[in-house]
Amino acid sequence: MIQIEKVSKVYRSRGREVTAVDGVDLTVREGEVFGVLGRSGAGKSTLLRCVNLLERPDSGRIAVDGRDLLSLDGRELRRARQGIGMIHQHFGLLSGRTVAGNVAFPLEVMGVPRSERAARVAELLELVGLDEHAAAYPAQLSGGQKQRVGIARALAGRPKVLLSDEATSALDPETTASILELLRDLNRRLGLTVLLITHEMEVVKRICDSAAIMRAGRVVESGPLRELLLRPGSELARDLLPLPAAGPRSGAGTTVADVTFEGDSADRPFVSSLARTYSIDVNILGGAVERIGGTRIGRLRIELPGDPDVNAAQLAYLREAGLTVEVRAPAAAGPPALVPAAEPDEQEASLS
Ligand SMILES: Nc1ncnc2c1ncn2[C@@H]1O[C@H](COP(=O)(O)OP(=O)(O)OP(=O)(O)O)[C@@H](O)[C@H]1O
Ligand SMILES: [Mg+2]
Repeated sequence: MIQIEKVSKVYRSRGREVTAVDGVDLTVREGEVFGVLGRSGAGKSTLLRCVNLLERPDSGRIAVDGRDLLSLDGRELRRARQGIGMIHQHFGLLSGRTVAGNVAFPLEVMGVPRSERAARVAELLELVGLDEHAAAYPAQLSGGQKQRVGIARALAGRPKVLLSDEATSALDPETTASILELLRDLNRRLGLTVLLITHEMEVVKRICDSAAIMRAGRVVESGPLRELLLRPGSELARDLLPLPAAGPRSGAGTTVADVTFEGDSADRPFVSSLARTYSIDVNILGGAVERIGGTRIGRLRIELPGDPDVNAAQLAYLREAGLTVEVRAPAAAGPPALVPAAEPDEQEASLS
């Protein structure tokens, strides 16, 4: 639905150059909720603004619903933009207009005849659960209600794609949950593809099907959530299923490993079967489990007796059981790098 290919954006001001987006490739599939994560200044907002050409990239290609946006002329582009709604952190409502007036505004801009507007406004307000507040002014609304107006307004042009830049970060957790539920509901009911920026893991957990992590203008990790979480060395797994960054490492006669499991392997007692098969004591040092996209995914830090090289068979046993296994390197190895996993391409991923 959204294809971003080798997109770069450089800002130039007073002789200084900032590469905000640096050769980003990203594909958002039709009907999915895709989350972009990253520290402040990573280029997330710039990337999002490139998707509806609020910001024109310096190079690369952007296609939304099969249309190459950079090749469109003014009129075609305006039409294409109607198919892309956007919501913002601070709502951006017109304070002098009622809720209905705010939602009518984009319809007026699009040239929807007055006779059709009222019915369409009513339909949009019902969609976001605000039908009883049509006559209220923004100052009379809670943050969550304001964001609902923002969403109704973004849906005015019957978009196929909704862009969201930190739409819930000004809201309390309970309101955030209800807005996320609304976005998920719209995503399912209208087949809306959602590309959202967030720094809240809660958002990723609750509604994202896929995610990407940006750092210094680049995408360093992206894909379906489940795949990312099971990938060795995944930053997303580290954030979503946190185990202490410090803490025990392999060495001095022990092997410490982080094991990622999902769904049915959670129901299989791999710790006790490992202990039984090799007649060893397995210590559980910590763990985190989350329900993500309908499946349970978890990480467990375990400790086995003996250095990693004497545990080769035990580690292979776990990997053959379909688990992702990352051995924690001895402390002397320096930064929190991971000992190479079984396969060469896994090594690269885990050492990145
Ligand atoms: N209009 C602009 N002119 C010059 N530099 C800009 C402009 N907009 C953004 N930048 C710079 O581009 C980089 C990326 O900014 P961007 O707003 O995309 O980051 P972000 O990931 O959205 O950050 P945040 O999480 O704080 O919103 C930053 O270094 C920023 O200072
Ligand atoms: Mg931003």
